[in-house]
Amino acid sequence: MRDRTSLILFLLLLCGALLPACGGGGGIAVADVPSDEPTPPPEEPPDPTPDPTPSQLDQQLAPLLAAANVSTPTLPPAQPPALVALGQMLFFDKILSGNRNIACSTCHHPTAGSGDDLSVSIGEGGSGTGSVRQLAAGELIPRNAPPLFNRGLPAVRQMFWDSRLSRGAGGFVTPEPALNGRNPTAAAIVAELDTPLAAQALFPLTSHAEMRGQPGDNDLADAETNLEVWALIMERLIGTQSGNQGGIEAYRTLFGQAYPQIVDADDFNIGHLARAIGAYEDQAFRALASPFDAYLAGDLDAIDDQAKRGAVIFYSRGDCHRCHGGPLLTDDRHHAIAVPQVGPGRDFPGEDTGRAAVTGDPDDLYEFRTPSLRNVALTGPWMHDGAYTSLEAAVDHYDNPTRSLQNYDASQLAPRLRNTVDLDPARNQARADALSNILRPAPRLNGADVSDLVAFLRTLTDPASVDMSSEVPASVPSGLPVED
Ligand code: HEC
Ligand code: HEC
Repeated sequence: MRDRTSLILFLLLLCGALLPACGGGGGIAVADVPSDEPTPPPEEPPDPTPDPTPSQLDQQLAPLLAAANVSTPTLPPAQPPALVALGQMLFFDKILSGNRNIACSTCHHPTAGSGDDLSVSIGEGGSGTGSVRQLAAGELIPRNAPPLFNRGLPAVRQMFWDSRLSRGAGGFVTPEPALNGRNPTAAAIVAELDTPLAAQALFPLTSHAEMRGQPGDNDLADAETNLEVWALIMERLIGTQSGNQGGIEAYRTLFGQAYPQIVDADDFNIGHLARAIGAYEDQAFRALASPFDAYLAGDLDAIDDQAKRGAVIFYSRGDCHRCHGGPLLTDDRHHAIAVPQVGPGRDFPGEDTGRAAVTGDPDDLYEFRTPSLRNVALTGPWMHDGAYTSLEAAVDHYDNPTRSLQNYDASQLAPRLRNTVDLDPARNQARADALSNILRPAPRLNGADVSDLVAFLRTLTDPASVDMSSEVPASVPSGLPVED
């Protein structure tokens, strides 16, 4: 409830500070000059203490923020340290991949805004981390690696750009039927999946292109079912026969410390691994202390006037808040915004119909889940396929999404992707036709609007997320290299 309280406090503060100015009959323009104090001479240096007197922009913004239900989410309790410690090792350890050549961190690196700085990811067989990662023997993945910031918060229920993994009253919906519904057949695994984030961690492991490797390459790639892949990974980590055969001693110790109630190593399943990875992601990638949060808490100087102008556009005529509303700046729903198609395509080469491919409903064509915009300045390239490689270009898209799709400038892409832009006129027409009504007519943003919006989006960066290199461990229990 703290989030609401701070917003209400903020609004009260704002109203309280406004009363003398309004009551004094000085009008809005004098609101930033307290009436009982002389105006300081211009050569005097600015007062370093926060000025609590709302400006005209603050007055404009306050009701808009209240209407869009903007607040700082309450931090959930900290995750158990032993669980986080295990999860961190697993997140950085390539032993989870079939060919022992790729880790979660390869595509979700702490120094790359928890993504990989690439428009679309490069799968197992590639080499290097971050924007220098090379294709080598790897495959292009159809989509952009989304950031992990705040994905462990209680409000988050859906995973992936198309939300093909979700949790609701009826249990999980995932790509693996054994995990789904109220009475899942893999009940022992599901019992450990405390969040959708934890459940998500199971699926990079079963993806041939991402982590598993191609049939013929290794034992995981040749396994017949997902459940078998997961069992083989646990064998690699902690062994079998109560840990007497195979496995890695350091992992047996870490699992034992994370789950002290489990005495027999054979009682561990992949759910325990997923829960630990989810706990690590949740703890490491919480990002709720941005300048904008300071502003919401009442520090009116925490963001500058340009950012405030951007916020006013964002929460009014820009219509951004109609999808990016609420505490995380997302409605958690799916919308079509006419993004150009880049990369190998998920449905077939050149095509990614997004949510429609999950639901089979033509009304969902080209819809993707509205991403949270917290830390958005750190998470480029932007959109489900990284079509825009600058934040300015991503925002400028909204000036006129259909025109932006038609006039897409492929030169912003890495050279290897330039000829993957889908130019098929019929499909691009379908992308334009699917555009959300919220964006018709287009918001029409001039150059100054775009700069102001970008300035606002930059205030959503938590300074603690800028340099997360201390998250990278020096070594992992398998002994495999942590960095390429
Ligand atoms: C080869 C690169 C790659 C690897 C390795 C990888 N991911 Fe991802 N990850 C992606 C891509 C691409 C997506 C988006 C896929 C989609 O939406 O269809 C994604 C999606 C996610 C999401 C969903 C985020 C959201 O907001 O919906 C999470 C969480 C995540 N990955 C965590 C992990 C974890 C944990 C691992 C290791 C077990 C991992 N990833 C391994 C590339 C990768
Ligand atoms: C109709 C709903 C809707 C509206 C209105 C909207 N957005 Fe979005 N936004 C989305 C969706 C959906 C995506 C992801 C689309 C995709 O990847 O195909 C997105 C993506 C973004 C991204 C890229 C984020 C990332 O992590 O890749 C930015 C930046 C952004 N929006 C900013 C804005 C701004 C600024 C406005 C107002 C001018 C706005 N949005 C209006 C739904 C919306």
